[in-house]
Amino acid sequence: MSRRVIRVLLLLIVVGVGGWLLPRSGPLSINLNVPLPVTVRIDNPHALPVPNSGVDVEELKPTLRTLSSKQLSILTSITAFSRYLENALNIIAYREEQFGQLPSKQKPLAEAIGYSTHLEDARSCARENAKILGKVADFARDTYGFSPEEQTTEAHYEFVGDFLGHVMRDWSDEGRHERAVIFPPILKALEEGMSGIRGKKKILVPGFGLGRLAHEIANHEDCIVDACELDYGSIIAYNYLINQTIIPFEHTLYPYLTKWQYQQTGKGRYKSVRFPDVLPTSRVNLVEGDFLTEFPDSEQYDAIVTLFFIDVSENIIDFLSTIHRLLKPGGLWINLGPLKWGSFSHMQLSAEEVLDLAERLGFKVDHDSRQSIDAVYGHQVGSLLKFTYVTQFWTARKI
Ligand SMILES: C[S@@+](CC[C@H](N)C(=O)[O-])C[C@H]1O[C@@H](n2cnc3c(N)ncnc32)[C@H](O)[C@@H]1O
Repeated sequence: MSRRVIRVLLLLIVVGVGGWLLPRSGPLSINLNVPLPVTVRIDNPHALPVPNSGVDVEELKPTLRTLSSKQLSILTSITAFSRYLENALNIIAYREEQFGQLPSKQKPLAEAIGYSTHLEDARSCARENAKILGKVADFARDTYGFSPEEQTTEAHYEFVGDFLGHVMRDWSDEGRHERAVIFPPILKALEEGMSGIRGKKKILVPGFGLGRLAHEIANHEDCIVDACELDYGSIIAYNYLINQTIIPFEHTLYPYLTKWQYQQTGKGRYKSVRFPDVLPTSRVNLVEGDFLTEFPDSEQYDAIVTLFFIDVSENIIDFLSTIHRLLKPGGLWINLGPLKWGSFSHMQLSAEEVLDLAERLGFKVDHDSRQSIDAVYGHQVGSLLKFTYVTQFWTARKI
């Protein structure tokens, strides 16, 4: 045996015995030094290279590779979906801890109203959610070429929370009443605004989300629908939905199991949502990335539809200029959404100011088209909280 092989064997024995003696406290997280600072989680600590051991680090290195910023975004989303259960169980454990602080003589009353059963019920719903969210993560790993060992240390669980709300709004029966408020004015404006165009029309939906509007447009109009989305939480979930669904209502999720506030009934926490209510069969071309940079060719589209979109911009002038640049002369811009603006937005404009800006950038706004439309977003039917946006609808044309 060569000296190098003996050194490796000795190292494995030392690390192996040490690892066996130490209590296992779950997976080990380390920061690996790669050009783009990416944290990769290693589930097998025995695979870690030991500095200055003389062992060829390349031989033992498990998942080290340099990720582009796009790959990092994808991996961050995959990690959030695959580690959903950890987060949900932590939230339920916190509720259990709070419940545990109830004086013991009051516990029988809590038992009598059935409160204590919710903890176990919530855990079993979380396990059900984890099955499908794990499948979304697995499908994304296959699609984008990641191994199960590759994960980011931080999991941004808000990606999963957003998905649970969006899937209900876009692809379930429960979301029908929300869609019924916001889709018809858009579809009607498209139909009327493009009736003069012969042949196939080209329409862009930037800020695709989970894509129901884009699919409705593709069903409704004789057109080519392009869409664009930046967030890989939405993209990987949508990819799973369109590629791994055979029949309507095939998938079931429990979106509210950690949302115990504002419930009308005890069972409200475990309300299931089945999806999709229809198969997303119409053709939509989804471009992954930033719509400000992904479309270099100008004057391509007959119409651009922005739904709950313009206010997510950092720079509204960039967004409106890009919409204007991508429209053909005379092309139609249809907008419906709130003016919620992020704290990161350079300007937080009023509706009047957005329209003033649009006219200065070369749009002719149809002031008669303007409407305020009350809309909720991802609302749990029967919940004791209802948050309503007074969304702003308008149409405008590129001069
Ligand atoms: C509030 S959501 C609305 C999604 C969808 N329109 C709907 O109504 O369900 C805004 C979406 O725009 C996406 N987004 C934000 N900035 C973007 C950009 N520059 N390019 C493409 N998508 C973007 C976000 O990731 C998010 O999915």
